[in-house]
Amino acid sequence: MNGVIDLKLWAGRFAKGTDKKVDDFNSSISFDSRMYRQDILGSIAHAKMLGKQGIIPNEDSVLIQTTLNEVLLDIEAGKIEFEIDAEDIHMNIEKILISRIGDTGKRLHTGRSRNDQVALDIRLYLRDEISEIEALLVSLSEVLLNIAEENLDTIMPGYTHLQRAQPITFAHHAMAYFQMLSRDISRLRDCTKRLNVMPLGSGALAGTTYPLDREFVAQELGFDSITQNSLDGVSDRDFVIELASCLSILMMHLSRFSEEIILWASHEFAFIELDDAYSTGSSIMPQKKNPDIAELVRGKAGRVYGDLLALLTVMKGLPLAYNKDMQEDKEAIFDSVDTVKMCLPVFTDMIRTMKVRKENMYKAAQGGFTNATDIADYLVKKGIPFRDSHEIIGKMVLYCINNNKSIDQLSMQEFSTFSDKIEADVYEAISLETCVSQRKLTGGPAKSTLIESIKNGRQCIKKGE
Ligand code: ARG
Repeated sequence: MNGVIDLKLWAGRFAKGTDKKVDDFNSSISFDSRMYRQDILGSIAHAKMLGKQGIIPNEDSVLIQTTLNEVLLDIEAGKIEFEIDAEDIHMNIEKILISRIGDTGKRLHTGRSRNDQVALDIRLYLRDEISEIEALLVSLSEVLLNIAEENLDTIMPGYTHLQRAQPITFAHHAMAYFQMLSRDISRLRDCTKRLNVMPLGSGALAGTTYPLDREFVAQELGFDSITQNSLDGVSDRDFVIELASCLSILMMHLSRFSEEIILWASHEFAFIELDDAYSTGSSIMPQKKNPDIAELVRGKAGRVYGDLLALLTVMKGLPLAYNKDMQEDKEAIFDSVDTVKMCLPVFTDMIRTMKVRKENMYKAAQGGFTNATDIADYLVKKGIPFRDSHEIIGKMVLYCINNNKSIDQLSMQEFSTFSDKIEADVYEAISLETCVSQRKLTGGPAKSTLIESIKNGRQCIKKGE
């Protein structure tokens, strides 16, 4: 034998079988077998509808449905091995069905094509994955809310250009990430709206002559609506790309956060200490405690971006309707989904268990003249135009640098050399606590503002918004 194998479900038109190498190359079962559940549930709904519409005899429909349910249980019990030469999950399951109930099983594929079947399966599969990812995002958001609540008074420097800029609190910083994650959740929900549309009935590309009840199938499977053009129904992978892009943005957020964790865990910052269970050592340097988890999450963002690029590139030149290139969508989106699902729980626990070194954060905020804006604003309130006051304080900062002092360490005598408008109330006005507590506009770091935003955050989570 020269590697030629037995007959396919589509063998009628062929004089000989495919070469073994072609089977290996063409087959997607190694990665699409994970959609077995969705494939079977889709087939059960299709069979039920075929029976209801009188397209196949009702007893055949019932037998197909019960057998498919048995196949599902057998797969879950690990009793079934899929075959590479049956190409993909769709034909594997159909073959198993036919092997169990013969001719009756052969009626299942009436009015359906693998093209609309795969479009259905991937939508069902990703819909489930999205809700799992959403739940993981909610857990991380809750941890952030708790961290924020515990750190309403934890003053730290806020940065621009990674230079100390103005004092904020760690609660404020944590809530910034909370906002990003809320947008990630809302993006996933938005993506689900366009994904949750039922494509069966598109057939191979041109619909079908059978009187299918598409709405019924949609309802059975929990879809909101049905696709409106059969060509588009089988060739659309926008929802896959949209999901990959939501996941890329999400990973970008985790990666930025990871970057900060890595910096903060360094001796130079020492703002946090990672729990031993969420850090690693070095095989040579006994003193090391490395933030590997955060680094790996940061690295995996690159991998998810790669998947998005792969998907965009696979789709960009395809004529309508289905093309086999589209089989390449699965490994990319599965990889993105798996990566995100792996990163989120470990990242969440790393954050949950880390120790916040409040005193170091406070010390850092004391240096770097983070209250310079506030003393400039102090002079503005005493009637000096902001540009002039900016200039005065610039000189004051230079003086402090040359004399190795912070602004609040200047004496009244020294203050008076810069402006006669500075009075004894300046010390209170430029304390770090005042700098933070006076920034109480919506979005600012003041405790009162943050308490409100934590409350809103908790309510949104509770209402599932
Ligand atoms: N395994 C294929 C995929 O993932 C299923 C659809 C195949 N259709 C076809 N006409 N070859 O895209």
